Amino acid sequence: MKEGKSSSTAWGVTLARVAHVRFDESPPIFDDSLAFELVEPEIQPILEHYRPVRDPEKSALEEVRRARAYLPLRQRYQEECLMAAYERGVRQFVLLGAGLDAYAFRQPPDHSDLSIFEVDFPATQAKKRARIERLGWCEPANLFFSPCDFERDNLSQSLLRSGFDKRLPCYFTWMGVTVYLERETVRSTFSDLLAISAPGSSIAFEYALPTEDLSGSDLLSRQFSLAQKNREREPFVSQFRLEGIRELVTDIGWKRFEALDHEETAARILAGRNDDLSIHMGFRLAEAFN
Ligand SMILES: C[S@@+](CC[C@H](N)C(=O)[O-])C[C@H]1O[C@@H](n2cnc3c(N)ncnc32)[C@H](O)[C@@H]1O
Repeated sequence: MKEGKSSSTAWGVTLARVAHVRFDESPPIFDDSLAFELVEPEIQPILEHYRPVRDPEKSALEEVRRARAYLPLRQRYQEECLMAAYERGVRQFVLLGAGLDAYAFRQPPDHSDLSIFEVDFPATQAKKRARIERLGWCEPANLFFSPCDFERDNLSQSLLRSGFDKRLPCYFTWMGVTVYLERETVRSTFSDLLAISAPGSSIAFEYALPTEDLSGSDLLSRQFSLAQKNREREPFVSQFRLEGIRELVTDIGWKRFEALDHEETAARILAGRNDDLSIHMGFRLAEAFN
């Protein structure tokens, strides 16, 4: 991330999720259509680029379109873990690298006792808040903002300043972010969070598999991603294998590590669909518990 510049991947993944609702078959894997409003009006027309391309000459692009079903799956996983945490009695929810996440604006009315903290790169967060104001949306009373650059700032201090209570358990989510950070930042962030995590806390997160482990359409999607112009400003930095990330997280002291069975989840979610969607396998999801 460049000082003072907001994230373009934040709107990139949002548009992919919205495109899934608009252009793919119903029912969607996850309905993130409200987040479209949070995309700047001059960016919104880019949604058209996500339309299915039936031109055989553009088959690589078509593969990438099909594999975007991973992004609604990731959002669904994030919110299924949130609901499970809420059921366990957790009442703090921290979105690390929140981007244009719209949960706070579509939260169930009977969950308003959940405190929601959005942590993000300061420029990304400032732009989102300006957009919320321009839309005339009212920021819910249980929503708190915590600007923080993971590479430079003290995350726990930033959260505590925003009203986070370290005596209470929390559900953290860290989706679409570790790949942009130095390995040491990923490690120190897990450590910093554990220090403010009361028993019963958990963190759901995503990591990228090494490019050399990918093949077929997964490699094609990764190569497409790596060739995007915004990679100059938001390069892919850290990649992990399952054993590596499990070791990193548990060595720090997180007690239990549960990797999502990606293949089983993909098969279950795609079963019964009549469209040709696939799930990108280059990124993986897991949850660690304290
Ligand atoms: C691909 S977006 C993901 C957004 C959101 N989690 C989602 O899934 O829609 C990446 C997010 O990571 C944030 N990010 C990247 N590097 C960061 C850093 N060094 N500090 C804080 N946030 C960062 C960006 O601002 C952006 O919001």
